[in-house]
Amino acid sequence: MSGAEPSLCPPIRAAVVTLSDKASVGLRADASGPRLAQLLRDLGAQVGDPVVIPDDQALIERTLADLADSGAVDLILTTGGTGMAPRDRTPEATLAVADRLAPGLAEAMRAASLAVTPRAMLSRAVSAVRKQTLIVNMPGSPKACGEHFAVIAPVLGHAVETLRGEAFECASTERPS
Ligand code: MTE
Repeated sequence: MSGAEPSLCPPIRAAVVTLSDKASVGLRADASGPRLAQLLRDLGAQVGDPVVIPDDQALIERTLADLADSGAVDLILTTGGTGMAPRDRTPEATLAVADRLAPGLAEAMRAASLAVTPRAMLSRAVSAVRKQTLIVNMPGSPKACGEHFAVIAPVLGHAVETLRGEAFECASTERPS
């Protein structure tokens, strides 16, 4: 897999949303949200502190929709709630607010993760687009987040350029031949 692309101009504006009943009430530290935020920063993206909310589908939908509709976020990475536990609803919430499917990212992450653990089959993560925002689900473990992020990092810049509809307009970005 190739390395990450050069930073975008303007940079990717990202948000991280952690879905965890326990972390949302302080019963567990959120380790995966800060890990994803750091990985995004390392890629040159602008990202604030993770939003930590419980596994409540309506709340997840509202949070994702508000972020996307603000027009201030190109990319939302969610972490947690993608498994089969009774309250895991992140994929359903993501699909409920999506305008368009973008299954390739989730497919690639799941395929790569199968080389790490057969439990990758248990992830129901999806990837989709609402307006001009790409939403990508990741599992809840920080280790798994790192593994998943490495898979999609090389294509995030081009995905965001394409979503913005302004690919190649920045002086620092050259059109490939
Ligand atoms: N993918 C990778 N790369 N590494 C992992 O450790 N854990 C799996 C799977 N995908 C895992 C992984 C497990 S055990 C589950 S239950 C699902 O992701 C969903 O995780 P979540 O419920 O925390 O979102």
